[in-house]
Amino acid sequence: MEGKILAGRYQIIHYVGGGMSRVYKAKDIVLDRYVAVKMMSEQLKQNQELIYRFIREAKLVGRFSHPNIVNVFDAGRDDDLYYMVMEYIEGVSLKDWIQKKKLSLREIVSIGIQICEGLDYAHKHGIIHRDIKPHNILITLDGHVKVSDFGISRFVEGGTQLTETDVVIGTVHYFSPEQASGAKLSFTSDIYSFGIMLYEMVTGEVPFKNGNSVIIAYQHIEKPLPDPRKFNPNLPKSLYQIIDKATQKKPGDRYSSAMDIALELKWTLLEIEKGQNYYQIVKSYSKKRAWTIGIGILAILLGLLITLIDG
Ligand SMILES: Nc1ncnc2c1ncn2[C@@H]1O[C@H](COP(=O)(O)OP(=O)(O)O)[C@@H](O)[C@H]1O
Ligand SMILES: [Mg+2]
Repeated sequence: MEGKILAGRYQIIHYVGGGMSRVYKAKDIVLDRYVAVKMMSEQLKQNQELIYRFIREAKLVGRFSHPNIVNVFDAGRDDDLYYMVMEYIEGVSLKDWIQKKKLSLREIVSIGIQICEGLDYAHKHGIIHRDIKPHNILITLDGHVKVSDFGISRFVEGGTQLTETDVVIGTVHYFSPEQASGAKLSFTSDIYSFGIMLYEMVTGEVPFKNGNSVIIAYQHIEKPLPDPRKFNPNLPKSLYQIIDKATQKKPGDRYSSAMDIALELKWTLLEIEKGQNYYQIVKSYSKKRAWTIGIGILAILLGLLITLIDG
């Protein structure tokens, strides 16, 4: 593949990675810039459903424009090769980062905010990612975080049942309970997977890792998460609470949007940087304000009542 010029435009430089597909660094010889070219694996090219899915991923993400989602520039077919052209991310996947380096709390929270902002954008466009895991989060050398690989994502209104192929593709370690049991999914399924990723970032390990896929899927459905504070005693309370709420077994008990998590993570970032719990301060301040306003309204009503009685 190296050296090949695809569609008369993209010169393949070298292989960079892939699971279901193969991703190469390439040079766009028209615009004279590096790009990433994603292609379907040879053995999967016979599968019509996967071809359809591949084209759909390019179409879906091609319409997106968000700093925290990998940009798709182009897609097409050259002979029997289906390809998708994306911005080239010079950096690492979050999986590599977690494995090679202990992340600081500041880094974890900053990465978390960016993922949530990207996810929220996809959700607001009606898309559930369905494969949120550290391998699919790319981080540029200057710390920008990009959600990638919408390969098994789906429109929420388009029926959300997992097909057999999806079950094989998805990584059970990050499956939401509803995904593990093959039930209907909503955006909060991604929020659960995000919560598991946050858990992994703060402890270095996923919560359920022992046993085969069936056992792990069962644990996501039934078993409470081991307390992350056991593995990371320095975990701030606010971050623990975010993980806890994001990974609730019942979808309705989780955050209802990724933006809500991003906002809470921003408070946590302030807390880490300034050593104060700003969220609590603002909450108690707004409680005090609510009291003052309540008493004010009561006084006005009382005044009106007295005037009415007098009159
Ligand atoms: N835009 C990109 N820039 C650089 N590397 C990328 C890019 N997209 C994907 N990769 C690399 O290729 C790997 C596989 O890509 P991905 O889109 O996740 O496909 P798959 O469906 O095969 O998992 C990623 O984990 C990452 O290492
Ligand atoms: Mg992937």
